[in-house]
Amino acid sequence: GKVAVLMGGTSAERKISLMSGGGVLAALRSRGVDAHAFDPAERDLGDLRREGFARCFIALHGRHGEDGTVQGALELLGIPYTGPGVMASSIAMDKVMTKRVWIAENLPTPRFVRLAADQQQREQVRAVPDVLGLPLIVKPPREGSSIGVTKVQGYSDMQDAVALSVRYDPDVLCEEFIDGDEVTCPVLGEGRHAQALPVIRILAPEGAYDYQNKYFTDDVKYQCPSGLPEAEEREIQRIVLAAYRTLGCRGWGRADLMIRASDRKPFLLEMNTSPGMTTHSLVPMSARAVGIAYEDLCLRVLASAAL
Ligand code: DAL
Ligand code: MG
Repeated sequence: GKVAVLMGGTSAERKISLMSGGGVLAALRSRGVDAHAFDPAERDLGDLRREGFARCFIALHGRHGEDGTVQGALELLGIPYTGPGVMASSIAMDKVMTKRVWIAENLPTPRFVRLAADQQQREQVRAVPDVLGLPLIVKPPREGSSIGVTKVQGYSDMQDAVALSVRYDPDVLCEEFIDGDEVTCPVLGEGRHAQALPVIRILAPEGAYDYQNKYFTDDVKYQCPSGLPEAEEREIQRIVLAAYRTLGCRGWGRADLMIRASDRKPFLLEMNTSPGMTTHSLVPMSARAVGIAYEDLCLRVLASAAL
């Protein structure tokens, strides 16, 4: 039947979603799938049923796409979709909720302070470095692609960092900075059958793996195979699978982590439930390292579409 590739949407990651969706659409068509682009920012999701779409490939990123809302609409429409269901999607979209779940399961994630909208008085903001140390990370908890993120070096930067973050989310997540290697690890499948793909090591100039460097420059170097010791790679994959299963993820996902330089301990930062599929994106890179071509990856994710 007809497949809709949902792309675009209204989040701050709209531009990235159009790049992901364009890649997925071309790949599915090249393999004979009757795939069509569908932008929920321009169309009524109810059209999916009226126009007889049998399945959806969700290539939306961010809120109203990756956060359970579109997933809920598709549940009501009865159209199978890629990626996790409503609850896992909405928890994973919120980095604070994600961390609470992981902490409850004894999974390692950096210490944090959440500044809710009514907790952002000057004194409250200034108190955060006393708790988390410096440098620290300030970010909007329900955003992606490093949008609104600041690495705070001193007390005087805190106010600006919070002001930037609240442009994207009224709540602010302040997180302990883990000095070390930045890595990511994709997962395919569900439950007992979920499988971690090879870890990618990200080498960004001056650690600036930011929005610009993620998609629009070639300044970042990626290592896959990661070059990490075998035992470390396996430990990361083990933790990532546990993190994925605990959130109730399905289909596919990608966890981002830091490995602390001082003791090589891995820390989970977040789980992406609709990972980027752009030419610069990481799941395709890792899949390729185990012989899964971009087109085959798209087919495999599509085949996991469920209700
Ligand atoms: N949020 C972007 C799309 C990613 O994680 O790949
Ligand atoms: Mg993300």
